[in-house]
Amino acid sequence: MTTILITGANRGLGLEFCKQYAQDDWNVIACCREPKNAVELTALATEFSNISVFALDVADLGQIENLAKQLDNTAIDVLLNNAGIYGDVSGRGFGNLDYEQWQKNMTVNVFAPVKMTEVFLPHLKLGKAKTVVAMSSLMGSIADNTSGASILYRSSKSALNAAMKSVAIDKHHEGIAVLILHPGWVKTDMGGSNAPMEIPESITKMRETIANFTLEKSGEFLNYNGKTLPW
Ligand SMILES: NC(=O)c1ccc[n+]([C@@H]2O[C@H](COP(=O)([O-])OP(=O)(O)OC[C@H]3O[C@@H](n4cnc5c(N)ncnc54)[C@H](OP(=O)(O)O)[C@@H]3O)[C@@H](O)[C@H]2O)c1
Repeated sequence: MTTILITGANRGLGLEFCKQYAQDDWNVIACCREPKNAVELTALATEFSNISVFALDVADLGQIENLAKQLDNTAIDVLLNNAGIYGDVSGRGFGNLDYEQWQKNMTVNVFAPVKMTEVFLPHLKLGKAKTVVAMSSLMGSIADNTSGASILYRSSKSALNAAMKSVAIDKHHEGIAVLILHPGWVKTDMGGSNAPMEIPESITKMRETIANFTLEKSGEFLNYNGKTLPW
């Protein structure tokens, strides 16, 4: 059975990833901060016996290490680093930046996915696909930034891209493929109600892109539909 580990699995894109992969008979390791409050995920796990739910606050790097130990010897085919935060709020732009929040953005959006990849490397090596997905954003593209603002979010996703590109190069010889992926602008709590894309469409297309991803493409920054994005 193919296994995927998903962070931030309780709502938004993460929840739909769980649903679609479970429907497709994958073994889903669904991680979220507070399983007891994750009503929809718990209901999904009741419906699908191939979903198991684990508590994980990715901002706590110690929790990441403990989960990796708990799942020792479990083969993971795809490590999906989905959890993320936006952080920017109106009134806290350049001139009045919230540095504490910026630090949180860096922890959740950069340190956590890199740490996850470090400690789950042995599990990935036991799997077949050996694929790491870093859920990035087009807002992390410096080339695409023509509207400014969102300094906390943009810089954290740019840093994620830079770090994951290096991981891709460093781990290529060990057969680890790293996909840096933009989900599109999607109607979630983060994307907001003006987003043009519904969650199921984004997830269906990203699953296709993940399925078609190979080691030769490792380190590429791709749109949900598989098209290359500018750095
Ligand atoms: N939606 C879009 O248009 C869009 C566009 C580009 C990129 N993205 C990226 O796609 C990913 C998913 O976004 P989304 O739209 O589904 O956002 P969302 O609806 O706001 O969901 C974010 C998820 O991340 C989890 N999370 C946040 N901090 C966490 C932490 N410290 N530990 C564990 N989980 C944590 C949340 O859990 P809690 O419920 O516990 O807070 C939630 O499950 C993010 O990385 C985001 O940057 C989204």
